[in-house]
Amino acid sequence: MSLTVAIDGPAAAGKGTIARAVAEHFGFAHLDTGLLYRAVGRRTLNGEGAIMAAQSLTAEDVADADALRTPDVAQAASQVAAMPEVRAALVDFQRAFARRIGGAVLDGRDIGTVICPDAEVKLFVTATDDVRARRRHKELVGKGHEVTLEEVAADLAERDRRDAARITAPMTAAADALLLDTSTLSIDDAVARAIERVGQQA
Ligand code: C5P
Repeated sequence: MSLTVAIDGPAAAGKGTIARAVAEHFGFAHLDTGLLYRAVGRRTLNGEGAIMAAQSLTAEDVADADALRTPDVAQAASQVAAMPEVRAALVDFQRAFARRIGGAVLDGRDIGTVICPDAEVKLFVTATDDVRARRRHKELVGKGHEVTLEEVAADLAERDRRDAARITAPMTAAADALLLDTSTLSIDDAVARAIERVGQQA
């Protein structure tokens, strides 16, 4: 079975967890597209130009995903992600991944709208600001980061605002996306709903 699943939504809504579980369930490949922007962001923190970094990104840049999942890198990612040239440099890789034989799940902000407008299944995953901040805070503290809930909430709010307001490929639900609000759902229930939706198409 070859099918593309596009999963978009704001930070810490549960996209990654759902995308991984759907990919595993159906045997599809999974790409966390946020890692691409985070890798570019990290290279800019090291003093490199964003466009050059995006144009020369390699697998090595995203190899250590955990090192990219920090609040500093997330902020840098959302800044470089507003640059059209940076986004343009990452389009071909994402589209090629989406066409993989055997099926692919991509999660991000613009997958259903810009990268894969023809995806067979589109989900837009949301949760309230408070729920998302608490989830991300727990996750970061669990990894040993010293951050307060307020700092995490501020980081998410700033990124969401920037991601939704940018001119190029702003974060928005595709008209044909299924909205999945995970605020009051357990992980298992959210995953089950996503799998059910993909299963209808498969
Ligand atoms: O999903 P994650 O929080 O890892 O993404 C980090 C940042 O990368 C987002 O805040 C957003 O600015 C950017 N991004 C994007 N388009 C995507 C995926 C991520 O602009 N498809």
